[in-house]
Amino acid sequence: MLVSATEMLKKAKEGHYAVGQININNLEWTKAVLQTAQELNSPVILGVSEGAGKYMGGFKTVQDMVAALDEEMKITVPVATHLDHGTYEGCYKCIKAGFTSIMFDGSHYPIDENIAKTTELVHVAHQLGLSIEAEVGAIGGEEDGVIGRGECADPDECKQIADLGVDMLAAGIGNIHGKYPADWEGLSFETLDAIQQKTGIMPLVLHGGSGIPNEMVKKAITLGVSKVNVNTECQLAFADAVRKYIEAGKDLEGKGFDPRKLLAPGVEAIKATVKEKFELFGSVGKA
Ligand code: 13P
Repeated sequence: MLVSATEMLKKAKEGHYAVGQININNLEWTKAVLQTAQELNSPVILGVSEGAGKYMGGFKTVQDMVAALDEEMKITVPVATHLDHGTYEGCYKCIKAGFTSIMFDGSHYPIDENIAKTTELVHVAHQLGLSIEAEVGAIGGEEDGVIGRGECADPDECKQIADLGVDMLAAGIGNIHGKYPADWEGLSFETLDAIQQKTGIMPLVLHGGSGIPNEMVKKAITLGVSKVNVNTECQLAFADAVRKYIEAGKDLEGKGFDPRKLLAPGVEAIKATVKEKFELFGSVGKA
């Protein structure tokens, strides 16, 4: 059931669990995530970066694919199609394509410009029934060629953006996208606590959910995180499973080269990763 992310995040914040944003990359990925969410009776947010949107043929292709799968797979759990780290222009493209949720990442703008653009997009998104995420304090690591520094957000700036009426707020607390370096200092719970004190009921978003130790994720959820984004871990699991299939020479046996067979281990690996994450986030049975 395609919906905005507003209600599912409100429920998650009240219920002290988090909804998973699982980024999608193709048809197999999307089917795997939707099937797992349905089996576990969990809400889910399908994250689509601008790069992934382009790769899949454009945002309209993505939206129409998800809508069709939602119908044909008889998905009854709440599902949101969400632009991940959107530019100003990207947000409008996704609104036009029919996405149910957008993220405007204005974290690289001076705070006044971030506020001005976020204000406009909140107005447009809400008029059309979409939910909207904003960001304060760059998330580190690399995503679609953009390198963030992994800074900690200023709690006062978080309050300023939260007060604009966004539905969820991504705030840097030392988290980074992609693999965490061996010398990573961990999440700054002090910063998260200060942000939560200032922003109250606002659902907070933890980006870079891959590779954070489980105990840290759980603690972040107790401190107000209601959405955790995961991309890299599914990609690694998929690649690992497909590599093993090929290395075992299975693609050379019979019709093992058929993409439906070749990619099947990767799909199963995505499902297992998503299941593990939903269990960790506490969203199982919360649809
Ligand atoms: P990872 O790729 O580190 O899981 O981060 C995903 C993310 O935060 C998407 O915005």
